[in-house]
Amino acid sequence: MRTGIIGAMDEEIVLFLEAMEETKKTVKAGITYYQGKLESREVVLCKSGVGKVNAGVCTQILIDRFGVDQVIFTGVAGAVHPDLEIGDIVISTTCLQHDVDATALGFQPGEIPYAKIWEWQADPRLIELAMKSGEAIGDDVNIVKGKVLSGDQFIADRDKVRRLYERFDAYCTEMEGAAAAQVCTMNDVPFVIVRSMSDKADGSADVNFAEFTKLASRRSFEIVSSMLKHESPAAGAGVIVYSTAGCIECDMVKKLLTEQGIPFEVRDVMTSQQYRDEVEKFGFLGVPVTVVGGKAVKGFQPEELQALLDGLKK
Ligand code: ADE
Repeated sequence: MRTGIIGAMDEEIVLFLEAMEETKKTVKAGITYYQGKLESREVVLCKSGVGKVNAGVCTQILIDRFGVDQVIFTGVAGAVHPDLEIGDIVISTTCLQHDVDATALGFQPGEIPYAKIWEWQADPRLIELAMKSGEAIGDDVNIVKGKVLSGDQFIADRDKVRRLYERFDAYCTEMEGAAAAQVCTMNDVPFVIVRSMSDKADGSADVNFAEFTKLASRRSFEIVSSMLKHESPAAGAGVIVYSTAGCIECDMVKKLLTEQGIPFEVRDVMTSQQYRDEVEKFGFLGVPVTVVGGKAVKGFQPEELQALLDGLKK
């Protein structure tokens, strides 16, 4: 399992860089990529630069050239939801580009004309991993799941931020996440955005941004590091079947794998708390759960299982 970690600015990646080991540097399209280990996991870190085009280019390179299996976009954002304070954390459920506007042609705000989707869904497993990791860093941190807006605009206006909230029911706004999310979705790569609030996108946003970006970036770093630490070891292995004795669906999954000559590891959840925790990290209760490269399928569902196994041949 190789994780791409993207931040837009130096402040948002510096702590990762300091914590990384065995770092190798490569430059492509003017962006520096750092391959190495963080919390003993394989990562590729980069600073995309600010804005949606930079984020899009950087994400496609991470996928094509560095073969990342999942992407975490990390850094700071302006709070949009009125309940949020500076320092609070937002984990993306979905994200969209708030500055896309073809309403004059009858499209919805944020809708990309003629596209099937314009609001991208973060990976449920990464969302839960981020939430748990955030909760683990301390009681004084307010961490919420919610919609993230991205646009090529630094929002620093009370009326504008209120309109964004009313129009999109969003939690925060930044300048890259949805572009990275779009590229990940186009490539079928799981992603999540982890943002700490540096400001409230209001009339004080410029001053607050300057003052709090460093502190907010530290929070995002702590969560992402903790995510890597708690990433299931299963996520990097071959095929794993979480199962238990006497489970008919578990046997059906194993039969399907055997018939296709695919080797697999069986993890009996009744024998280990760790295995139960691993299943829970994928957001499931019960077995069988089949895992390949960080993706999981619950139950005996031949079509979904086949799609998962096809990922092995890539
Ligand atoms: N990143 C941090 N604060 C922001 C804001 N107010 N607008 C856009 N991007 C941001």
